[in-house]
Amino acid sequence: MTRILMVCLGNICRSPMADGLLRRKVKEENLNVFVDSAGTANYHVGKRPDKRMCDTAKQNLTSIDELRARQFTVEDFNSFDKIYAMDEENYKNILRLAKTQSDTQKVELILNELYLNENRGVPDPYYGTEADFQEVYTLLDHATDVVISKIKNGTIR
Ligand code: 4NP
Repeated sequence: MTRILMVCLGNICRSPMADGLLRRKVKEENLNVFVDSAGTANYHVGKRPDKRMCDTAKQNLTSIDELRARQFTVEDFNSFDKIYAMDEENYKNILRLAKTQSDTQKVELILNELYLNENRGVPDPYYGTEADFQEVYTLLDHATDVVISKIKNGTIR
């Protein structure tokens, strides 16, 4: 089984959206993949995703209501094969906890799946508008399509 972790700052907007999208697609494609998400910060631990992200997800036929925020831990390097950071700040915070080269190699910026080597970040929508939440959805919808095709062709194992 391939295990994929989505990581942002609060684990209430971007990474739950990425998590929910990938879960939905893995189920639709009947793939043997475990998906989860976490935040590098602990502000929102135990909370459900932000209502605005839940609403955007729902409008796009994806449910994230059942997810609950948790903080990224060093054990996640052992529990997951691939760790996707939503932006460069999350990326750096994850890498700070890496102990081995194998840990480091698991971490990638999710938008590098769409824009190779450009190191773009998914913009933090927390202080944004409804359009910003939709933008998060669209970026992550496209990025998770690439993740699904890589799982199918064996590039991600
Ligand atoms: P996320 O968004 O990292 O996409 O979950 C944020 C959620 C909360 C905060 C910042 C970003 N916050 O500062 O509380």
